[in-house]
Amino acid sequence: MSSHDSAEKKGFSHEKIETTNWLMIALIVVVVAVGGLVEIVPLFFQRSLTEPVPGLKPYTALQVVGRDIYVREGCYNCHSQMIRPFRAETLRYGHYSVAGEFVYDRPFQWGSKRTGPDLHRVGGKYSDEWHRIHLIQPRDLVPESNMPAYPWLEKTAVDASDVATRMAGLRTLGAPYTDAEIAEAEAAVKGKNESEALIAYLQVLGTSIK
Ligand code: HEC
Repeated sequence: MSSHDSAEKKGFSHEKIETTNWLMIALIVVVVAVGGLVEIVPLFFQRSLTEPVPGLKPYTALQVVGRDIYVREGCYNCHSQMIRPFRAETLRYGHYSVAGEFVYDRPFQWGSKRTGPDLHRVGGKYSDEWHRIHLIQPRDLVPESNMPAYPWLEKTAVDASDVATRMAGLRTLGAPYTDAEIAEAEAAVKGKNESEALIAYLQVLGTSIK
């Protein structure tokens, strides 16, 4: 006479669910969807995750180009940009990464593979000249390095033609560029080589919080 009995009579027994594949799948989808909504949707409204940290600036035209080179060359295959809040990491790299530092990163370069060190706080760690030599031949500076050499970057002029379009695209996603910054973008990167652009990007990484 329990409610369980009456449910069974109507055909909603556990056994029925467990032996009917599509019913089981449909119910799993419902449970996961509700769980997803409850876990994920609030993150969009949590200010600490969507607001830039004070001092964070969108990438300059040259840094935007450099970032695209970083992605094109697959640097993320060996380098993460995500310092975890553990003592061993903060002693080595500095302050752990916070969400508000990445709001202008589209897409973010957190990565997960660390063949080389994390690069999130590499900005300002070395001189531009160090990076220039390191990119041409890492082993000239770090003899035991297994990082590939990227000698062509210095010999390749940056493609200035589409940087304004890219910045306009980033602006529609929330980067606060002014019309003047976008109008001047092409002139700002003209005549630079790819190594200079990549170094401009590397030197700003992780510098918005001290
Ligand atoms: C095959 C893996 C690999 C790839 C791909 C790679 N690196 Fe590295 N990188 C390393 C290793 C290993 C080190 C540590 C030894 C050294 O400094 O050369 C390193 C070190 C560095 C450092 C110095 C970090 C520090 O704190 O001392 C920078 C900067 C760097 N890499 C930038 C880049 C950039 C930019 C690219 C893409 C153009 C790149 N790496 C691609 C493996 C890689």
